[in-house]
Amino acid sequence: MIPRPVSRDPAPQPSVPSVLLLATLITGVLALAGRQMGAQDYAAHPGGAPRDGATVYAAHCAECHGASGKGDGPASFLLSPHPRDFSIGSYKIRTTETGSVPTDEDLLRSIRRGLHGTAMPGWESLLPDTEIRNVVEHVKSYSPSFAGTRPQIVTVGADVVSSPASVARGFAVYERLQCGACHGADGRGSGAVATEFEDDWGQPMRAADLTEPWTFRGGATARDVFMRFRTGMSGTPMPSFKDSATDAEMWDLANYVLSLARKPVWAMNADEVAAHYAREEAEANAHPIERGRHLVDSMGCALCHSPLDDSRRVLPGMKLAGGMRIRVEPFGDYVTGNLTSDVETGLGGWTDEEIVRVMTQGILRDGTRLLPYPMDWPSFSTLASDDLRAIIAYLRTVPPVSNRIPPPRRPLLPIYLWGKFRMLILGADLPMTFHAGNAGTPVAHADAAAPQGGR
Ligand code: HEC
Ligand code: HEC
Ligand code: HEC
Repeated sequence: MIPRPVSRDPAPQPSVPSVLLLATLITGVLALAGRQMGAQDYAAHPGGAPRDGATVYAAHCAECHGASGKGDGPASFLLSPHPRDFSIGSYKIRTTETGSVPTDEDLLRSIRRGLHGTAMPGWESLLPDTEIRNVVEHVKSYSPSFAGTRPQIVTVGADVVSSPASVARGFAVYERLQCGACHGADGRGSGAVATEFEDDWGQPMRAADLTEPWTFRGGATARDVFMRFRTGMSGTPMPSFKDSATDAEMWDLANYVLSLARKPVWAMNADEVAAHYAREEAEANAHPIERGRHLVDSMGCALCHSPLDDSRRVLPGMKLAGGMRIRVEPFGDYVTGNLTSDVETGLGGWTDEEIVRVMTQGILRDGTRLLPYPMDWPSFSTLASDDLRAIIAYLRTVPPVSNRIPPPRRPLLPIYLWGKFRMLILGADLPMTFHAGNAGTPVAHADAAAPQGGR
């Protein structure tokens, strides 16, 4: 199973429906990845000899980082940020100069503690330390950068203890170095000049919210924060400021950044929590498309609504274009709908009400009722109307992809009833199989002979 990231500080909790959805999804991913992963469990082998790096990697890392270390494991396309591609040898969390490989200690630390705010779990409590050391050697073997070069370690003096004077000096450094161009004057993006970022692997990313230090990948002590802008975060737009500021200035800056931390939700009283969520909601409503994108990503709509290849990667250009065939034993074969804005074969011709109706009541455009599987629409029915509107607003921006989806193949009534009996009375589980390939068909435009579109 994919373990939850182990984080010292509890992260803000997603809403209950999205937790349920994520659970459903992760089960889905596992169904897909199951054959490969087998019945591995994460506990150390009691009494057994420590496993070598390649074995540990295959059992615990390949599912995200890919069998050949290229960051393309079966679960990777669902994750934002994507799992690291180890073949390039570029690392975010280092105590070494820009351009240098990280030290073994850097890698050990990221693997032991995980990268907060991402899917990268902390392995400290899951793997024996010898196995973590073995897997570090294995990870390094994917990139030639480690061969024959020594990490250029950054030397740092003693910590500068935070004080009002240091924080005030740090504020001036923040202004002078124009951190706010990316992070905003308030550390959470207000007035930022650059708002859209990509990492070196072409994945969209955002600048860290400096008021939420528990999401910092590399930890939230002053020394951690100091290191991130001292060394830069390779592969991301976050640069090194080594030539623009002295160490003393950077310590003040680290103290300033940490002074921006807002109170985490778990430390707020009831009034503060209410005010916090009211503000978040106002912001979300001001940016519905962003909000919708986030919901569609985190609820994993693309996991089902995209056709995958045999290695369970989305077929190029087909994200959200539907066409994945899901067999639900014995209830038939269901092909997922095309959610792109294509007018003929996607949601382009649907009204908002029609989309809301299928998501919250399971009723298709032609009045057909959906079973509560494979798509767990009953859990969508609890979505707030703002969230539904945001999802729709985002789906309307997904570029059109022509892919006509065939109707489901349903079984004969007696087989259906027998299935219900087995499920409800005998408590049997419904086996669900996710098939590779696209079960839809692209439609040539202006093809008058094509049958009438949509469903
Ligand atoms: C559930 C998915 C997942 C699993 C399983 C996983 N990782 Fe990761 N890993 C990630 C993601 C996502 C990132 C990238 C985070 C980022 O870019 O901020 C990452 C990043 C890393 C990094 C890069 C750190 C840096 O400084 O850039 C290392 C090293 C790493 N993982 C090692 C491992 C090892 C070793 C294992 C197995 C013991 C493993 N990971 C298992 C998702 C995973
Ligand atoms: C060109 C845009 C840009 C500038 C300028 C910039 N940052 Fe960043 N910063 C980013 C991005 C993008 C990330 C997110 C990296 C990631 O998530 O992997 C980030 C991440 C961070 C983090 C989180 C580190 C972690 O462990 O996750 C801190 C702290 C930070 N920046 C502080 C600063 C400070 C202080 C300055 C000014 C000295 C600064 N940044 C300037 C783009 C920028
Ligand atoms: C577990 C897989 C799964 C997940 C996750 C999923 N869906 Fe579906 N969805 C389906 C299937 C299968 C159908 C088609 C059902 C049928 O036609 O009988 C469908 C149908 C739809 C339809 C009707 C489109 C059409 O052409 O029939 C919409 C709209 C839709 N889903 C939106 C979403 C959205 C938005 C999400 C994420 C919030 C989502 N779905 C998540 C499996 C899934």
